[in-house]
Amino acid sequence: MPPHPGDILELTIDTLAYGGQGIARHEDFVLFVRGAVPGDTVRAEVTRRKRSYAEARLLEIVAPSPARVAPLCRHTESCGGCEWQTLDYAAQLEFKQRQVEESLAHIGGLAGYELETIRGMDPPWRYRNKMEFSFGESDGALVLGLHRRTSWRDVVEIEDCWLAPVIVNRARQAVADACRALALAPYRRGEHEGLLRHLVVRHGRASGDLLINLFTTGRFAQERELAERVAALQPYSSFAVTVNESQADAAIGEGPFMIAGPPYLHEELAGARLRVPATAFLQTNTVMCVTLYETTLRFAAAERRRSAFDLYCGIGSIALALARAAGHVYGMEIEEPAIAAARENARLNAIANVDFSAGDVRKQLIEPPGPGMPGATSTESPAVVVVDPPRAGMARKAVERTASLGADRIVYVSCNPTTLAANGAQLGGLGYRLTRVAPVDMFPQTHHIETVALFERG
Ligand SMILES: C[S@@+](CC[C@H](N)C(=O)[O-])C[C@H]1O[C@@H](n2cnc3c(N)ncnc32)[C@H](O)[C@@H]1O
Repeated sequence: MPPHPGDILELTIDTLAYGGQGIARHEDFVLFVRGAVPGDTVRAEVTRRKRSYAEARLLEIVAPSPARVAPLCRHTESCGGCEWQTLDYAAQLEFKQRQVEESLAHIGGLAGYELETIRGMDPPWRYRNKMEFSFGESDGALVLGLHRRTSWRDVVEIEDCWLAPVIVNRARQAVADACRALALAPYRRGEHEGLLRHLVVRHGRASGDLLINLFTTGRFAQERELAERVAALQPYSSFAVTVNESQADAAIGEGPFMIAGPPYLHEELAGARLRVPATAFLQTNTVMCVTLYETTLRFAAAERRRSAFDLYCGIGSIALALARAAGHVYGMEIEEPAIAAARENARLNAIANVDFSAGDVRKQLIEPPGPGMPGATSTESPAVVVVDPPRAGMARKAVERTASLGADRIVYVSCNPTTLAANGAQLGGLGYRLTRVAPVDMFPQTHHIETVALFERG
């Protein structure tokens, strides 16, 4: 008998789903239980049933898994952040490795490649170089923290997030204290009223830069006073205000309007000094990004007399690293400010054998740059194309056009093994065989997985 909503069941968790929930079986029916880890025996209430599976809410851990560990974070019960911190780190790595393999096999039908052991982080904490906090209200007082696990509208004050560096937590505290001292009003999500919406704090590990970006519903009179009060509590390199008048509850908007400092911070990666604009993408874990880029460059094996492509290049970090070993590198990215920063980064590092262009990769590849174009060094096809798309993966046309560049190798850097698998299956049909895969743990304590995959032609 399939379970019904409201049923209370005792379940043993067998494994983890991609997405982080524990998976159990009840008379051959699959149940997903958030917050449960493999090896746990739990009591759970069925909340939703579909034809082939159901979801259940964890009520009680009857017998804990041997892989269960005490959480470090004191906000873990209320905060929706790092859902895997109750799972021993070695077990987290083992599950991620397995999930990469399973996604590639089940979604992409991909096998027969060399799977490297996942690279873990030591210690696996305090790695996020960018944190996005939300403003809210509790009993009429301003709070600044993260969304509550059980209610997206509620915000929990987070005094010490273990995924954030200490300085980022201090910056959150300084902004919260200064906003309270000036009696600034938090935004009310239901009523679309109030001023303060989000706080984004970015930290440059090598430079020590700290960029504070406050997202509000409008410009306000006390901006400068607020910036000064925050500086007295926690010095920073930049303080900005970004205006989001829309109903969309996200850290987006017009700006940044700089109250102090420049609209960027600096970081160092793969031997290059990088300028990172306030809103540009940067890999969130700077420590593990070194491993990620080393793996990417090792798989890419750029060749001195041949060109290379870096698609979805962001601020150009991989392209600049490739340029040290390649003839010429072409970087493509959709965000204009990121491309402007990539060009600036090439200048800052005196790297001349690289060209960057802004626009959708899918459209840019209709007429790709190449032999005969300015900067081209040979008439041959590129030695390698590196692609690093967002979580949704590459559009089918983009995959097709990437393959038609005719490179010997395609190195796919992926933050989502399910879209890597789907794109990988398409590459298989276009003459590229998956030969090597290396998972890198960029997101300890969470279910997110980063993978570098090497596809070779022929
Ligand atoms: C995962 S990030 C990778 C950035 C860079 N490789 C790095 O390591 O910092 C993906 C990038 O793809 C860009 N992007 C998203 N969709 C795109 C598209 N259709 N065409 C070109 N770039 C795109 C995003 O703006 C983002 O900078």
